[in-house]
Amino acid sequence: MVNTLDSSFVENGPWKPDIFKDKVVFVTGGSGTICRVQTEAMVLLGAHAAIVGRNEAKTIAAAKEMSQLSCSASILPLTKVDVRNFDQLQRAVEKTVEQFGKIDYVIAGAAGNFIADFSHLSPNAFKSVIDIDLLGSFNTVKACFPELVKTKGSVVFVSATLHYSGVPFQSHVGAAKAGVDALSNALAVELGPLGIRCNCIAPGPIEGTEGIKRLLPAGLESRAIEQIPLQRLGTTRDIADSTVYLFSPASSFVNGTVTAVDGGAWHIGSTFSRDMYPKQLLKSIKSKL
Ligand code: COA
Repeated sequence: MVNTLDSSFVENGPWKPDIFKDKVVFVTGGSGTICRVQTEAMVLLGAHAAIVGRNEAKTIAAAKEMSQLSCSASILPLTKVDVRNFDQLQRAVEKTVEQFGKIDYVIAGAAGNFIADFSHLSPNAFKSVIDIDLLGSFNTVKACFPELVKTKGSVVFVSATLHYSGVPFQSHVGAAKAGVDALSNALAVELGPLGIRCNCIAPGPIEGTEGIKRLLPAGLESRAIEQIPLQRLGTTRDIADSTVYLFSPASSFVNGTVTAVDGGAWHIGSTFSRDMYPKQLLKSIKSKL
C-alpha cells in the first residue's frame, strides 16, 4: 500500500530503532495522507503521538490503526479541533501533556486546498486557506511553545513548492505556504537561542495524496513524471524519512531550512500549470466575466 508504513520501515530502513523512544510528537492534520505517514514513522521509531483533527471519526480511526504499529507507543486522538481556533488547540495541548507529560516535537501539517482561479476565489475562500495553513501553523506553535521551551523541542512545518513560481489555480495556497516558510524562518531565528529548531518540508508531487488527485488529471501522470528529474512521483514515505531526519539528532545543527522533497521538480517549473495554461485558465476566468 502506498499510504501506510509497517515494521519494514524500521527493519529495512536507515533509522536506528527506538531513536524516538519516550519522545512525544504533536501533529495537526495527523489523520491526513501525508501527516499520517509522518506520524507513523515517528511511532514506529518509538514516539508517542497526539493527532489533532477536525473530523472525529477520521481522527479516531487513524489513531486506532496507528496504535497497531507499536506495542510501546500510544496514540492520542484529539478531535473536533480546528487549527484556526487557538483555544481549541490550547486544550489539545493540555490533554497531550496530561496524557504524555510533555511535547518534544511538533508537526504543523493541517492544510486546506481546492483548485480555483482568482475569479472563482471569494474573499472568504482565500481567507479560509490562509487561516488554516498560515494562522493554523502559527496557532499550533504558539499553543505548544511552553512545552517546546521545556524540552528544547523541534518543529516541522509542512509547506509546498507551489510558491516558488506562479502556479495558476493555486494563488491562495501559494500565498499561504509562502507565509508558512516566512514564519518558520523567523521562528528559527527567534527560538533558536532557546534550543528550539524550526524547519519546513515542502512536498512536491506525492502519489496518493488529495493534492495530486486534484492537480493531476487522469491520463497525464506519465507526462508529469517525465517532467520530474528523478522520473517518479514522490511517496509519503519520502516525506516521512525527511521528517525523521529533521527530528533526529542527525540534524541537531539544522535550523531554518526548507527541504523540498520533490525529486528536483520545482527547478523545471510546475508541470501542472503547463497543462492548464493558458487555455483552461482563460476558459475558467471567462466563465465568471
Ligand atoms: N472553489 C472555490 N471556492 C471554494 C471551493 C472551491 N472548490 N471550496 C470551498 N470554497 C470556498 C467556499 O465557497 C467558502 O467561501 P464563501 O463563504 O465565499 O462561499 C470558503 O471557501 C470556505 O468554505 P467552507 O467550506 O465554509 O470552509 P471550511 O472551513 O469548512 O473548509 C476548505 C475549508 C475550503 C479549505 C475545505 O476545502 C477543506 O476543509 N479542506 C480540507 C481538506 C483538504 O483540503 N485537504 C487537502 C490538504 S492539501
